[in-house]
Amino acid sequence: MDKQINWGLLSTARINQALIRPLTASKRTRLLAVASRSLSSAEAYAREWKIPRAHESYEALLADPEIDVIYNPLPNHLHAEWTIKALRAGKHVLCEKPIALTLAEVDAMTQAAKESGKVLAEAFMYRHHAQTLKAKEIVDSGALGKIQLVKGAFTFNLTREGDIRSKKETGGGSIWDIGCYPISFARMIIGAEPLEVFGWRVAGENGVDDSFYGQMKFEGGVHAQFDSGFKSPFRTMIEIVGTEASLSIPAPFKPERSSEIFLSRGSKAEKIKIKGGMLYMGEVDDICDAIAENKAPRISLADSRGNVAAILALLESAQVGKPVSLVGR
Ligand SMILES: NC(=O)c1ccc[n+]([C@@H]2O[C@H](COP(=O)([O-])OP(=O)(O)OC[C@H]3O[C@@H](n4cnc5c(N)ncnc54)[C@H](OP(=O)(O)O)[C@@H]3O)[C@@H](O)[C@H]2O)c1
Repeated sequence: MDKQINWGLLSTARINQALIRPLTASKRTRLLAVASRSLSSAEAYAREWKIPRAHESYEALLADPEIDVIYNPLPNHLHAEWTIKALRAGKHVLCEKPIALTLAEVDAMTQAAKESGKVLAEAFMYRHHAQTLKAKEIVDSGALGKIQLVKGAFTFNLTREGDIRSKKETGGGSIWDIGCYPISFARMIIGAEPLEVFGWRVAGENGVDDSFYGQMKFEGGVHAQFDSGFKSPFRTMIEIVGTEASLSIPAPFKPERSSEIFLSRGSKAEKIKIKGGMLYMGEVDDICDAIAENKAPRISLADSRGNVAAILALLESAQVGKPVSLVGR
């Protein structure tokens, strides 16, 4: 068997739990270490999740010569800084979404990946799931006719006090946290970048958006509309509307191992059943393939940059109260 790929968790973030199962279930990977800002927290976490090594600082994890891949689930404002440090330390990086908060940060990360020769990929887990691949295949087959509109939503009630999502200084706000999903889905399905966007935001107490309502215009009369928010119950959807048919995806971002999507023509709806794997295994497999087989990751850095560019333009539009062009960004 090829050498196992050793992973290190950069912090004790809650989302780590989604990665721990695939990292321990896969024969190709070994979850070797966790780091925290304090040794006691790293040690307690390592004991709880049976991780062999605990590091007292993020720097110590990056200096661990046996670590091949760093999983970066830090708050959004630290994605660029620690991803660049990890790449410069000779590590591959799987970085949580949104990959960064400015285009300058994405460009610096891309440059660091290029200079180090290491793989950097954004952790949009849904992109690797069989359901997403099937939806894209259906659209590309022409079964819906010419695509007119992609609609999407992701909301949940954010009730945790002091969460990183509700603070401006940690890169909070619903569009960065969950609006990034329908934006990414629409861009992936349409296969292009928006030309122009328009958005409205409802500001929360801390200057971040509690809700965001956005529209994106693409070439050829194709449009996307989405909403994201922290003030409604958990709710996700994608609907792709073509000239011949529409495709409805009730659980687009967190599909289970078996899921259903619906292809409708007029009043007739066909249920399409999909068998997928463990949701977060896809991003682990994808980066392992990129490392072991020198393949490009499924989500290119240009793609990640396009998502950040769209979010920034939508936020700008909400601020100035006018449509914002993305041409040349
Ligand atoms: N793909 C997905 O399904 C998914 C789901 C949820 C979240 N996410 C993404 O994952 C990232 C983390 O989200 P989360 O909910 O897991 O966050 P979280 O539980 O708040 O964890 C963030 C961790 O970062 C460390 N940290 C370093 N500086 C910090 C600071 N100034 N403030 C707060 N924490 C700091 C802390 O670890 P130590 O104390 O150990 O150093 C903390 O545990 C975000 O980028 C989010 O968008 C992705």
